[in-house]
Amino acid sequence: MTSEYLLRSLLMLILALFSANASNWLFLAKLSSVGSISEEETCERLKGLVQKQVQICKRNVEVMDAVRRGAQLAIDECQYQFRNRRWNCSTVDTLPIFGKVVAQGTREAAFVYAISSASVALAVTRACSSGELEKCGCDRNVHGISPEGFQWSGCSDNIAYGVAFSQSFVDVRERGKGSSSSRALMNLHNNEAGRKAILNNMRVECKCHGVSGSCEVKTCWKAMPPFRKVGNIIKEKFDGATEVEQRKIGTTKVLVPKNSQFKPHTEEDLVYLDPSPDFCDQDPRSGVLGTTGRYCNKTSKAIDGCELMCCGRGFHTEEVEVVDRCSCKFHWCCYVKCKQCHKMVEMHTCR
Ligand SMILES: *[C@@H]1O[C@H](CO)[C@@H](O)[C@H](O)[C@H]1NC(C)=O
Ligand SMILES: *[C@@H]1O[C@H](CO)[C@@H](O)[C@H](O)[C@H]1NC(C)=O
Repeated sequence: MTSEYLLRSLLMLILALFSANASNWLFLAKLSSVGSISEEETCERLKGLVQKQVQICKRNVEVMDAVRRGAQLAIDECQYQFRNRRWNCSTVDTLPIFGKVVAQGTREAAFVYAISSASVALAVTRACSSGELEKCGCDRNVHGISPEGFQWSGCSDNIAYGVAFSQSFVDVRERGKGSSSSRALMNLHNNEAGRKAILNNMRVECKCHGVSGSCEVKTCWKAMPPFRKVGNIIKEKFDGATEVEQRKIGTTKVLVPKNSQFKPHTEEDLVYLDPSPDFCDQDPRSGVLGTTGRYCNKTSKAIDGCELMCCGRGFHTEEVEVVDRCSCKFHWCCYVKCKQCHKMVEMHTCR
Protein backbone atom coordinates (compact mmCIF):
# COMPACT_ATOMS: atom_id res chain seq x y z
CA MET A 1 0.00 0.00 0.00
CA THR A 2 2.59 2.53 1.08
CA SER A 3 5.08 1.42 -1.55
CA GLU A 4 2.41 1.70 -4.17
CA TYR A 5 1.68 5.21 -2.98
CA LEU A 6 5.37 6.03 -3.05
CA LEU A 7 5.70 4.66 -6.55
CA ARG A 8 2.76 6.71 -7.70
CA SER A 9 4.08 9.90 -6.17
CA LEU A 10 7.39 9.25 -7.83
CA LEU A 11 5.68 8.68 -11.14
CA MET A 12 3.71 11.90 -10.77
CA LEU A 13 6.91 13.74 -9.97
CA ILE A 14 8.66 12.35 -13.03
CA LEU A 15 5.66 13.22 -15.17
CA ALA A 16 5.57 16.73 -13.74
CA LEU A 17 9.28 17.26 -14.41
CA PHE A 18 8.85 15.85 -17.86
CA SER A 19 5.90 18.08 -18.67
CA ALA A 20 7.77 21.15 -17.52
CA ASN A 21 9.87 20.78 -20.65
CA ALA A 22 8.12 22.39 -23.53
CA SER A 23 6.62 20.70 -26.53
CA ASN A 24 8.42 17.41 -26.22
CA TRP A 25 6.28 15.82 -28.87
CA LEU A 26 8.40 17.82 -31.31
CA PHE A 27 10.86 15.01 -30.76
CA LEU A 28 8.80 13.10 -33.32
CA ALA A 29 10.61 15.23 -35.91
CA LYS A 30 13.75 13.23 -35.13
CA LEU A 31 12.14 10.09 -36.50
CA SER A 32 12.62 9.48 -40.18
CA SER A 33 9.02 8.45 -40.49
CA VAL A 34 6.16 7.45 -38.32
CA GLY A 35 4.94 5.23 -41.10
CA SER A 36 6.12 2.58 -38.72
CA ILE A 37 3.32 3.72 -36.41
CA SER A 38 1.03 1.20 -37.91
CA GLU A 39 0.82 -0.66 -34.66
CA GLU A 40 -0.78 0.86 -31.64
CA GLU A 41 2.05 -0.38 -29.45
CA THR A 42 4.42 1.93 -31.28
CA CYS A 43 2.62 4.85 -29.64
CA GLU A 44 3.86 3.61 -26.27
CA ARG A 45 7.42 3.64 -27.48
CA LEU A 46 7.41 7.11 -29.01
CA LYS A 47 9.66 9.38 -27.05
CA GLY A 48 8.37 12.74 -25.92
CA LEU A 49 4.65 12.05 -25.64
CA VAL A 50 2.75 12.44 -22.39
CA GLN A 51 0.33 9.69 -21.45
CA LYS A 52 -2.72 11.45 -22.83
CA GLN A 53 -0.91 12.00 -26.12
CA VAL A 54 -0.12 8.29 -26.25
CA GLN A 55 -3.86 7.64 -25.97
CA ILE A 56 -4.62 10.10 -28.77
CA CYS A 57 -1.87 8.47 -30.82
CA LYS A 58 -3.50 5.06 -30.37
CA ARG A 59 -6.88 6.35 -31.48
CA ASN A 60 -5.38 8.21 -34.45
CA VAL A 61 -2.47 6.08 -35.59
CA GLU A 62 -2.93 7.07 -39.22
CA VAL A 63 -2.61 10.79 -38.37
CA MET A 64 0.70 10.46 -36.56
CA ASP A 65 2.92 10.71 -39.60
CA ALA A 66 1.32 14.06 -40.38
CA VAL A 67 2.06 15.10 -36.79
CA ARG A 68 5.69 14.11 -37.31
CA ARG A 69 5.85 16.18 -40.49
CA GLY A 70 4.26 19.05 -38.56
CA ALA A 71 7.00 18.86 -35.93
CA GLN A 72 9.65 19.02 -38.66
CA LEU A 73 7.91 21.99 -40.30
CA ALA A 74 7.82 23.81 -36.96
CA ILE A 75 11.54 23.28 -36.34
CA ASP A 76 12.53 24.29 -39.88
CA GLU A 77 10.38 27.42 -39.79
CA CYS A 78 11.66 28.41 -36.35
CA GLN A 79 15.25 28.08 -37.58
CA TYR A 80 14.45 30.12 -40.67
CA GLN A 81 12.73 32.92 -38.76
CA PHE A 82 15.50 33.09 -36.15
CA ARG A 83 18.49 32.52 -38.44
CA ASN A 84 19.82 36.03 -37.85
CA ARG A 85 19.18 36.26 -34.14
CA ARG A 86 21.31 35.40 -31.15
CA TRP A 87 19.00 32.54 -30.25
CA ASN A 88 18.72 30.73 -33.58
CA CYS A 89 16.27 28.05 -32.54
CA SER A 90 18.99 25.44 -32.32
CA THR A 91 17.79 22.05 -31.24
CA VAL A 92 19.48 19.27 -29.36
CA ASP A 93 19.29 15.59 -30.20
CA THR A 94 17.93 14.71 -26.81
CA LEU A 95 14.82 15.69 -24.94
CA PRO A 96 13.80 18.48 -24.50
CA ILE A 97 14.38 19.27 -28.11
CA PHE A 98 15.02 23.03 -27.83
CA GLY A 99 17.29 22.68 -24.87
CA LYS A 100 16.13 24.33 -21.71
CA VAL A 101 15.50 27.68 -23.36
CA VAL A 102 11.79 27.15 -23.80
CA ALA A 103 11.36 25.79 -20.28
CA GLN A 104 11.01 29.38 -19.11
CA GLY A 105 7.98 31.44 -20.08
CA THR A 106 9.89 33.64 -22.52
CA ARG A 107 9.00 35.20 -25.87
CA GLU A 108 11.02 32.47 -27.54
CA ALA A 109 8.91 29.83 -25.82
CA ALA A 110 5.79 31.69 -26.94
CA PHE A 111 7.01 31.50 -30.55
CA VAL A 112 7.82 27.79 -30.32
CA TYR A 113 4.40 26.93 -28.90
CA ALA A 114 2.55 29.02 -31.48
CA ILE A 115 4.48 27.71 -34.48
CA SER A 116 4.19 24.10 -33.31
CA SER A 117 0.45 24.11 -32.75
CA ALA A 118 0.02 25.84 -36.11
CA SER A 119 2.25 23.31 -37.85
CA VAL A 120 0.24 20.36 -36.57
CA ALA A 121 -3.02 21.98 -37.66
CA LEU A 122 -1.53 22.63 -41.09
CA ALA A 123 0.13 19.25 -41.59
CA VAL A 124 -2.98 17.32 -40.53
CA THR A 125 -5.20 19.49 -42.76
CA ARG A 126 -2.86 18.87 -45.70
CA ALA A 127 -3.02 15.15 -45.06
CA CYS A 128 -6.83 15.37 -45.08
CA SER A 129 -6.89 17.23 -48.40
CA SER A 130 -4.44 14.88 -50.05
CA GLY A 131 -6.69 11.95 -49.28
CA GLU A 132 -4.16 9.98 -47.26
CA LEU A 133 -6.39 9.72 -44.19
CA GLU A 134 -9.55 7.74 -43.73
CA LYS A 135 -10.89 9.94 -40.94
CA CYS A 136 -11.01 13.15 -42.92
CA GLY A 137 -10.99 14.51 -46.43
CA CYS A 138 -11.72 17.80 -48.12
CA ASP A 139 -14.12 20.25 -46.59
CA ARG A 140 -17.17 19.79 -48.79
CA ASN A 141 -19.33 22.24 -46.90
CA VAL A 142 -18.25 24.99 -49.25
CA HIS A 143 -19.96 24.11 -52.51
CA GLY A 144 -22.22 25.39 -55.25
CA ILE A 145 -21.82 28.72 -57.01
CA SER A 146 -20.27 31.62 -55.14
CA PRO A 147 -21.82 35.12 -55.13
CA GLU A 148 -18.90 36.16 -57.37
CA GLY A 149 -20.04 33.63 -59.90
CA PHE A 150 -17.36 30.96 -59.68
CA GLN A 151 -17.88 27.31 -58.94
CA TRP A 152 -16.65 25.94 -55.63
CA SER A 153 -14.64 22.82 -56.38
CA GLY A 154 -15.93 20.97 -53.34
CA CYS A 155 -12.42 20.28 -52.09
CA SER A 156 -11.51 23.06 -49.70
CA ASP A 157 -8.89 22.57 -47.01
CA ASN A 158 -10.52 21.02 -43.95
CA ILE A 159 -8.92 23.43 -41.53
CA ALA A 160 -11.57 22.75 -38.88
CA TYR A 161 -10.35 19.15 -38.62
CA GLY A 162 -6.68 20.12 -38.41
CA VAL A 163 -7.35 22.79 -35.81
CA ALA A 164 -9.48 20.43 -33.70
CA PHE A 165 -6.75 17.79 -33.84
CA SER A 166 -4.11 20.33 -32.84
CA GLN A 167 -6.31 21.50 -29.99
CA SER A 168 -6.67 18.03 -28.61
CA PHE A 169 -3.16 16.73 -29.27
CA VAL A 170 -1.01 19.78 -28.56
CA ASP A 171 -3.09 21.41 -25.83
CA VAL A 172 -3.56 18.23 -23.83
CA ARG A 173 -0.16 18.80 -22.19
CA GLU A 174 -1.51 21.90 -20.52
CA ARG A 175 -4.84 20.51 -19.45
CA GLY A 176 -5.20 18.54 -16.28
CA LYS A 177 -1.94 19.14 -14.43
CA GLY A 178 -2.20 22.54 -12.78
CA SER A 179 -4.14 23.80 -15.75
CA SER A 180 -4.62 27.15 -14.10
CA SER A 181 -0.92 27.77 -13.59
CA SER A 182 0.20 30.92 -15.33
CA ARG A 183 2.52 28.90 -17.55
CA ALA A 184 -0.28 26.61 -18.70
CA LEU A 185 -2.41 29.67 -19.47
CA MET A 186 0.46 31.19 -21.43
CA ASN A 187 1.00 28.03 -23.45
CA LEU A 188 -2.68 27.57 -24.22
CA HIS A 189 -3.00 31.18 -25.31
CA ASN A 190 0.01 30.95 -27.64
CA ASN A 191 -1.10 27.59 -29.04
CA GLU A 192 -4.41 29.18 -30.00
CA ALA A 193 -2.69 32.29 -31.40
CA GLY A 194 -0.63 30.02 -33.66
CA ARG A 195 -3.72 28.31 -35.03
CA LYS A 196 -5.40 31.70 -35.52
CA ALA A 197 -2.52 32.67 -37.81
CA ILE A 198 -3.81 30.01 -40.22
CA LEU A 199 -7.54 30.38 -39.58
CA ASN A 200 -7.57 34.15 -40.09
CA ASN A 201 -5.51 33.96 -43.26
CA MET A 202 -7.36 31.37 -45.28
CA ARG A 203 -7.62 32.34 -48.92
CA VAL A 204 -9.40 31.42 -52.09
CA GLU A 205 -7.42 29.68 -54.83
CA CYS A 206 -8.82 29.12 -58.28
CA LYS A 207 -8.19 27.22 -61.46
CA CYS A 208 -9.44 28.13 -64.90
CA HIS A 209 -10.98 25.68 -67.32
CA GLY A 210 -11.77 26.25 -70.94
CA VAL A 211 -10.24 26.19 -74.39
CA SER A 212 -6.55 27.09 -74.34
CA GLY A 213 -6.53 28.62 -70.89
CA SER A 214 -9.58 30.81 -71.34
CA CYS A 215 -11.45 31.14 -68.12
CA GLU A 216 -14.92 30.07 -69.13
CA VAL A 217 -15.32 28.03 -66.01
CA LYS A 218 -13.47 28.90 -62.83
CA THR A 219 -13.41 26.50 -59.91
CA CYS A 220 -12.16 27.68 -56.56
CA TRP A 221 -11.50 26.30 -53.11
CA LYS A 222 -10.51 27.61 -49.70
CA ALA A 223 -6.85 27.02 -49.03
CA MET A 224 -4.49 27.53 -46.13
CA PRO A 225 -1.76 30.16 -46.45
CA PRO A 226 1.73 28.81 -47.24
CA PHE A 227 3.51 27.88 -44.01
CA ARG A 228 6.18 30.54 -44.64
CA LYS A 229 3.43 33.16 -44.42
CA VAL A 230 2.22 31.63 -41.15
CA GLY A 231 5.82 31.79 -39.88
CA ASN A 232 6.12 35.45 -40.88
CA ILE A 233 2.89 36.32 -39.09
CA ILE A 234 3.89 34.53 -35.89
CA LYS A 235 7.35 36.13 -36.05
CA GLU A 236 5.68 39.56 -36.22
CA LYS A 237 3.63 38.59 -33.18
CA PHE A 238 6.88 37.59 -31.47
CA ASP A 239 8.31 41.04 -32.12
CA GLY A 240 5.22 42.68 -30.62
CA ALA A 241 4.57 40.13 -27.86
CA THR A 242 2.93 41.31 -24.65
CA GLU A 243 4.43 40.67 -21.22
CA VAL A 244 1.63 39.42 -19.01
CA GLU A 245 0.97 38.32 -15.45
CA GLN A 246 -1.71 36.22 -13.88
CA ARG A 247 -4.64 37.90 -12.21
CA LYS A 248 -7.68 36.42 -10.53
CA ILE A 249 -10.96 37.79 -11.80
CA GLY A 250 -13.78 36.28 -9.77
CA THR A 251 -12.90 32.61 -9.59
CA THR A 252 -11.09 32.41 -12.92
CA LYS A 253 -7.45 33.15 -13.51
CA VAL A 254 -6.53 35.21 -16.54
CA LEU A 255 -3.42 36.74 -18.04
CA VAL A 256 -3.37 40.53 -18.20
CA PRO A 257 -0.66 42.90 -19.47
CA LYS A 258 1.96 43.55 -16.79
CA ASN A 259 1.99 47.18 -17.75
CA SER A 260 -1.58 48.33 -17.26
CA GLN A 261 -1.02 51.21 -19.69
CA PHE A 262 -0.72 48.75 -22.56
CA LYS A 263 -3.80 47.78 -24.43
CA PRO A 264 -4.84 44.21 -23.77
CA HIS A 265 -3.54 41.53 -26.14
CA THR A 266 -5.88 39.99 -28.67
CA GLU A 267 -6.40 36.29 -29.37
CA GLU A 268 -3.87 36.52 -32.20
CA ASP A 269 -1.09 38.10 -30.12
CA LEU A 270 1.67 36.20 -28.36
CA VAL A 271 2.10 36.58 -24.61
CA TYR A 272 5.01 35.79 -22.30
CA LEU A 273 5.71 35.79 -18.58
CA ASP A 274 9.48 35.97 -18.21
CA PRO A 275 12.07 38.26 -19.77
CA SER A 276 14.52 36.49 -22.09
CA PRO A 277 18.18 36.08 -21.27
CA ASP A 278 20.51 38.04 -23.60
CA PHE A 279 21.72 34.73 -25.17
CA CYS A 280 25.25 36.18 -25.39
CA ASP A 281 27.30 33.68 -23.43
CA GLN A 282 27.25 29.94 -23.27
CA ASP A 283 25.33 28.73 -20.25
CA PRO A 284 24.80 24.98 -20.16
CA ARG A 285 22.55 25.28 -17.10
CA SER A 286 19.94 27.27 -19.01
CA GLY A 287 20.68 25.63 -22.36
CA VAL A 288 22.04 28.80 -23.97
CA LEU A 289 24.73 28.13 -26.60
CA GLY A 290 26.08 31.69 -26.78
CA THR A 291 27.01 33.50 -29.99
CA THR A 292 30.70 32.63 -30.22
CA GLY A 293 31.38 31.34 -33.73
CA ARG A 294 28.16 32.76 -35.20
CA TYR A 295 28.28 34.58 -38.54
CA CYS A 296 27.52 38.28 -38.36
CA ASN A 297 27.06 41.17 -40.79
CA LYS A 298 29.68 43.88 -40.41
CA THR A 299 27.57 46.66 -41.93
CA SER A 300 24.21 45.90 -40.32
CA LYS A 301 23.06 47.86 -37.30
CA ALA A 302 20.34 45.31 -36.59
CA ILE A 303 20.53 42.17 -34.44
CA ASP A 304 22.39 40.31 -37.25
CA GLY A 305 25.14 42.98 -37.17
CA CYS A 306 28.46 42.07 -35.58
CA GLU A 307 28.06 44.65 -32.83
CA LEU A 308 24.84 43.21 -31.44
CA MET A 309 25.31 39.57 -32.47
CA CYS A 310 28.74 39.37 -30.82
CA CYS A 311 27.60 41.30 -27.73
CA GLY A 312 30.52 43.71 -28.06
CA ARG A 313 33.16 40.93 -27.86
CA GLY A 314 34.39 41.65 -31.38
CA PHE A 315 34.73 39.30 -34.33
CA HIS A 316 37.15 37.44 -36.58
CA THR A 317 37.30 38.12 -40.29
CA GLU A 318 38.41 35.64 -42.90
CA GLU A 319 38.42 35.61 -46.66
CA VAL A 320 36.59 32.70 -48.16
CA GLU A 321 36.10 31.75 -51.76
CA VAL A 322 32.54 31.42 -52.96
CA VAL A 323 31.37 30.02 -56.26
CA ASP A 324 28.57 31.92 -57.88
CA ARG A 325 26.64 31.90 -61.13
CA CYS A 326 27.47 34.89 -63.27
CA SER A 327 27.38 36.30 -66.82
CA CYS A 328 24.10 34.56 -67.33
CA LYS A 329 22.74 34.65 -70.86
CA PHE A 330 19.25 33.91 -71.97
CA HIS A 331 19.11 31.62 -75.00
CA TRP A 332 16.13 31.54 -77.34
CA CYS A 333 14.18 29.47 -76.39
CA CYS A 334 14.15 28.83 -73.40
CA TYR A 335 17.10 28.33 -71.20
CA VAL A 336 19.62 30.34 -69.28
CA LYS A 337 23.31 29.59 -69.39
CA CYS A 338 25.67 30.89 -66.74
CA LYS A 339 29.36 30.82 -66.04
CA GLN A 340 30.80 29.91 -62.70
CA CYS A 341 32.68 32.71 -61.04
CA HIS A 342 34.94 32.41 -58.09
CA LYS A 343 35.15 35.38 -55.83
CA MET A 344 36.56 36.15 -52.43
CA VAL A 345 34.24 37.46 -49.76
CA GLU A 346 34.84 38.47 -46.18
CA MET A 347 33.13 36.37 -43.54
CA HIS A 348 32.84 37.56 -39.98
CA THR A 349 32.37 35.34 -36.99
CA CYS A 350 31.87 36.35 -33.38
CA ARG A 351 34.70 35.97 -30.87
C1 LIG B 1 22.85 28.09 -34.20
O1 LIG B 1 23.90 28.64 -33.48
C2 LIG B 1 24.80 27.70 -32.93
C3 LIG B 1 25.82 28.44 -32.10
O2 LIG B 1 25.21 29.34 -31.24
C4 LIG B 1 25.43 26.90 -34.05
O3 LIG B 1 26.27 25.89 -33.50
C5 LIG B 1 24.33 26.23 -34.90
O4 LIG B 1 24.89 25.61 -36.02
C6 LIG B 1 23.32 27.25 -35.37
N1 LIG B 1 22.20 26.54 -35.95
C7 LIG B 1 21.60 26.94 -37.08
C8 LIG B 1 20.45 26.12 -37.53
O5 LIG B 1 21.96 27.92 -37.71
C1 LIG C 1 24.44 43.13 -44.32
O1 LIG C 1 23.61 44.19 -43.90
C2 LIG C 1 23.40 45.19 -44.89
C3 LIG C 1 22.65 46.35 -44.22
O2 LIG C 1 21.55 45.88 -43.49
C4 LIG C 1 22.66 44.57 -46.07
O3 LIG C 1 22.44 45.55 -47.07
C5 LIG C 1 23.47 43.42 -46.63
O4 LIG C 1 22.77 42.77 -47.66
C6 LIG C 1 23.83 42.42 -45.53
N1 LIG C 1 24.79 41.44 -46.05
C7 LIG C 1 24.57 40.12 -46.00
C8 LIG C 1 25.66 39.25 -46.53
O5 LIG C 1 23.55 39.65 -45.53
